[in-house]
Amino acid sequence: MRRKVIAGNWKMNMLPNEAIEYIQAFEPMVKDAEAEVILCVPYVDLFYCLMNAQGTNIKIGAQNMHFAENGAYTGEVSPKMLKSIGVEYVIIGHSERRAYYGETDETVNKKIKAAFENELKPIVCVGESLEEREAGKTEEIITNQTRLALDGLTKEQVKGTIIAYEPIWAIGTGKTATSEDANNSIKAIRSEIAKIYGEDVSEEVIIQYGGSVKSSNAKELFETSDIDGGLVGGASLKPEEFSKIVKYNG
Ligand code: PGA
Repeated sequence: MRRKVIAGNWKMNMLPNEAIEYIQAFEPMVKDAEAEVILCVPYVDLFYCLMNAQGTNIKIGAQNMHFAENGAYTGEVSPKMLKSIGVEYVIIGHSERRAYYGETDETVNKKIKAAFENELKPIVCVGESLEEREAGKTEEIITNQTRLALDGLTKEQVKGTIIAYEPIWAIGTGKTATSEDANNSIKAIRSEIAKIYGEDVSEEVIIQYGGSVKSSNAKELFETSDIDGGLVGGASLKPEEFSKIVKYNG
């Protein structure tokens, strides 16, 4: 049985003092949660969140990183830097980074490899646009993105990768994929992984759904056969709402 992994993606929200207050309020709400709980926070909040989440079941992740270890990359943060302060997870290839900051399948692949070299766990985002969906290309797009993202990884690394299927048209729009639709897309990703790395690997990979997840739809989504939790943006900004998503089955 795969465990559920539920990650919040705060995006460019929350000042350090707000982040600290959030964790203090959120911790008692989720301390008995069965799911793995992750908060992916802005760089400037990382250290405060790590300090305040110490000794709790809340894991902390970054939202991006560079693939190089160090060097002349003004404004960037390296995997080694994240690791050095105790970060455990990192989102890679979010559609907003692909759309606004030139992230490509190639840089996504490099970043995933760099994450593993630095013992960070990648949460890798894939997903189709509305145009691609309407042209009937959803499966082709998401299986391609998955194949290119994972290219050259060992079976063990693939098992340790979390994939977040996030249809772009569902992000921040209030439109959620139906649970059946999302589950089918995730099945397609899983069978692509099975084709390349074997069924033993594909059965272990955690594949989340993301895109307007909220407490009112989390249960239906997460109780399908193949959706192993969620990557949650807007609804992760309020501790109470996010705790209900984390405890969707409670
Ligand atoms: P949303 O964002 O939950 O606000 O739709 C999800 C994401 O972008 O990860």
